[in-house]
Order: sequence, then structure tokens, then C-alpha cells
Amino acid sequence: MAGQPAPLLAVEGLKVHFHTRDGVVRAVDGVDFQVAPGQTLGIVGESGSGKTVSSLTLLRLAPPPARIVAGRVLFEGEDLLRQSDKRLAQIRGRRMAMIFQNPATSLNPILSIGQQLTEILRWHTGVSRQAALDRAAELLALVGISDPAARLRQYPHELSGGMKQRVGIARPCCASRRCCWRTSRQQRSTSPSRRRSWICWRSCASGWRCRWCW
Ligand SMILES: Nc1ncnc2c1ncn2[C@@H]1O[C@H](COP(=O)(O)OP(=O)(O)OP(=O)(O)O)[C@@H](O)[C@H]1O
Ligand SMILES: [Mg+2]
Repeated sequence: MAGQPAPLLAVEGLKVHFHTRDGVVRAVDGVDFQVAPGQTLGIVGESGSGKTVSSLTLLRLAPPPARIVAGRVLFEGEDLLRQSDKRLAQIRGRRMAMIFQNPATSLNPILSIGQQLTEILRWHTGVSRQAALDRAAELLALVGISDPAARLRQYPHELSGGMKQRVGIARPCCASRRCCWRTSRQQRSTSPSRRRSWICWRSCASGWRCRWCW
């Protein structure tokens, strides 16, 4: 459309099916949406309607037996569904990042918070361990975690549920500057802790070129 910026992300006709012993589950069956630079897009749907499977598929993270049956995921002009694994590794966590639905299971129990926050940044940019830790501490403070330097040395089981959620929000911010999404419905909640988590995400994500939530 004239005058509209080109979309940063355009999903066209996405279909993802699970081939199970009991038949085919059409988890995602023809999804289209676009996100412009600077735009925040919310996608609402009932439980089981395919929000998480769609978002995982954008970076080809939907696990087997998921099959991408049709569609295109155009991100800055590249169709992510047709890129090599090597190319996707350059994009994941750096140009496009994700806050997973359940921070309790998406954090690795045997790695410290510091290791988990810094590994993507170090892998993508090669910055020193100390510089990455400084950035991680900055982000923990931004999401409202007190004494960030001490928290970086702790493990997930030593944190409360709310803290794990905030770490889950801070983690993709460490290295990504372009695009991020979160797969949860917490923004609709009226509970104060969930509202705080939403506010954390908004302040953390304020520098990103696009955001969306499911
Ligand atoms: N491994 C799998 N095998 C078969 N079906 C699956 C598998 N994983 C997900 N599904 C199905 O895909 C559909 C979409 O699931 P999805 O997790 O995307 O829902 P959602 O919209 O994120 O739900 P919620 O709001 O509860 O998070 C559901 O019907 C689910 O049962
Ligand atoms: Mg979900």
C-alpha cells in the first residue's frame, strides 16, 4: 500500500501439520500476517489454536512430527523456511529472538543464569566474557531483578517463578536488536505480577524494530 513501510516480517499461507498415528493434526492451517518496523502485533486465539506452533515454525523450531506443509516466512526479504541451517543459526537469537511460553522449562537447569544470558551474545559477536556479563547484569536490572551480579551466578532452581520469567524476557534481549516475539497470553492478565512481566517486556523491547505476542 502506498505510504506504508515495507513489512519487516511477512507470513504468507503458513500451514504446519502433525502426522500422528491417530491422523493428521492441522495445527496451523493457512496463517497470514505482517509486522512493520516499530510495530507491535498481538495475536489472540483460544488454547490449542496454533499460536505457539506458528511462532516456533518461523525459525523452524517446531519439533517433529511437525511438518511445514506450505507457506513463506519473509524476514527482511529472506524466506526463512528455505534458508540453510547455517544461515538460520546466524539469524536466530541475533536478528530474531523469542521469549518462550514457559520460562521454567526453557531455562537449562545445569547452566548458571549468567551462562544462559551470555552464550548467545558471545556466540554472535565474540565479545569478552566480562563484557557479556556486564550486558546481562544491565538487562537483569532493567527487568527489575535486584542484585544482578549475584543472580548471574545462580541456577534456575534458585530463582522464584517470577524471576525466571524475567530472565526469560531478558535473555533474547542480550543479542537481538531486530525482532522479538513472546508466546504467552500474560498481557491480558489482571494479576499484578503478570502485568509487571508485560511492562518489563515492553521496556526491554523498546529498542527493537518489531515485536509481536501470542
Ligand atoms: N507434538 C505434537 N503432536 C501433535 N499435535 C501437537 C503437537 N504439538 C502441538 N500439537 C497440537 O497443535 C495445536 C496447536 O498447539 P499450540 O501449542 O500452538 O496452541 P496455542 O495456541 O499456543 O495454545 P495455548 O494458548 O494453550 O498456548 C494443538 O491442537 C496441539 O494439540
Ligand atoms: Mg502457546
